[in-house]
Amino acid sequence: MPPVPPHTPPHTRTPATTAPTPETTPARPAFPPGFAWGAATAAYQVEGAVTEGGRGPSIWDTFSHTPGRVAGGDTGDTAVDHYHRFREDVRLMADLGLTSYRFSISWPRIQPTGRGPATERGLDFYRALTDELLSHGITPLATLYHWDLPQELEDRGGWPARDTAGRFADYAALTAEALGDRVTSWTTLNEPWCSAFLGYGSGVHAPGRTDPGEALSAAHHLNLAHGLATGALRAVLPPAARVLISLNLHQIRPFSADPADLAAARRIDAVGNRIFTGPILGGEYPESLLADTAHLVDWDTLLHPGDLAQISRPIDLLGVNYYTPTVVSTPGNADGVARHDGHGAGAHSPWPGAEDVVFLPAPGERTAMDWPIDPGGLTDLLLRLHRAHPGLPLLVTENGAAFDDVVGPDGFVDDPARIAYLHGHLEAVADAIAAGADVRGYYLWSLLDNFEWAYGYGKRFGAVHVDYATLARTPKASARWYAEVIRRGGPVRQAPDPDRDDCP
Ligand code: FCB
Repeated sequence: MPPVPPHTPPHTRTPATTAPTPETTPARPAFPPGFAWGAATAAYQVEGAVTEGGRGPSIWDTFSHTPGRVAGGDTGDTAVDHYHRFREDVRLMADLGLTSYRFSISWPRIQPTGRGPATERGLDFYRALTDELLSHGITPLATLYHWDLPQELEDRGGWPARDTAGRFADYAALTAEALGDRVTSWTTLNEPWCSAFLGYGSGVHAPGRTDPGEALSAAHHLNLAHGLATGALRAVLPPAARVLISLNLHQIRPFSADPADLAAARRIDAVGNRIFTGPILGGEYPESLLADTAHLVDWDTLLHPGDLAQISRPIDLLGVNYYTPTVVSTPGNADGVARHDGHGAGAHSPWPGAEDVVFLPAPGERTAMDWPIDPGGLTDLLLRLHRAHPGLPLLVTENGAAFDDVVGPDGFVDDPARIAYLHGHLEAVADAIAAGADVRGYYLWSLLDNFEWAYGYGKRFGAVHVDYATLARTPKASARWYAEVIRRGGPVRQAPDPDRDDCP
């Protein structure tokens, strides 16, 4: 996509934290027929059963078992036991009326060491899961990589090593050969920005390395992995299959119109967004990125002839994950202003070549992640992508919010703040569609409360509450609300009464 424009339109939406009322919420049938109403999860966050079915260890097993890496020492060993309870979970999805479910496939279940033949027991789990989905009329959307690299590949160099891209393409081919008769929509990578820059830059995600040059190498090899896997998928899947990638594109707002803040926005846009959209959608890295990071990595050695052609193989849809906007400034302009953590900055920066950029919180209410609530950022992002890539359909593959849920005496979670968040963001998608964006679906993050990476189980994003002691699932008010949205084909005017008997 093109660089951030000098004047980002001000966001006009006032974030709401209470459920909308009929007076404030217009009725608007804004979603096209066939729009995918989904929810998403990821293997390590929900499956558990980490030593079953021949699964090998992943970098997240190692990382979560390393003291001090994950809040509370939490691990995904059991997670929410989706591996054993998937039939119950599909039943919940059917009760919600979901038309699609986005899940990820655990690479170390298919190839325990990241290479060699596929493990049939690993494939069987996903055969059973997808059969169950299809028997309930729910379309599977499979993500091949949601951060759980086989540990052995990390031991051989991880994503900073070029060979990992080839290993990923082999894994993609093996998996699609086995499941391509039932899964027609495939996402190569989820949020490669996080894999590269939180995994190898700030080190707050697995494998926890902190080297800016390695992080940039990882980003290039993730791009290459995506491109090689896209080719491998096309070779084994039927022509009607759809291939996409899910990016957590940063909706960047300069703090002021001062040239220094505008320059900061352009630099973060380059290393946050265009490092992926540039090569994937345009066949080139931004010149400014190559210049800003030339002291950290030798791009001439990193980039092999032909890489950009591989990376820019056409995709069918672009997956967009959006939670909150990013406000950037410079030390001089932001003096005395409260800072934000810069999306994962620990002691080490996840922004190679832009380490001096200052991150500020957007105004307004926050979620339990301390992420400002700004639905207008989603409209802006979708429209920016639509204008830059008019023929490319978009899919919101993640959006949702953690709040400090309170479980009532009857076990029920009434979560009006989450309903308001979801409502605002669905309206934001509707606004983008009304302005011409071709958005094909929306996946709520997340179906279930689950293991929230370095935050452990403390942050709950689920529409369905999970009691971590018993693993009992209970739909929250937001789940009932979402079911009503799906039933009506768009946001409802008012949160449904939880006692209504037509609700799940
Ligand atoms: C995204 C991840 C997803 C989840 C949400 C809250 O960055 O893709 O797994 O953790 O954030």
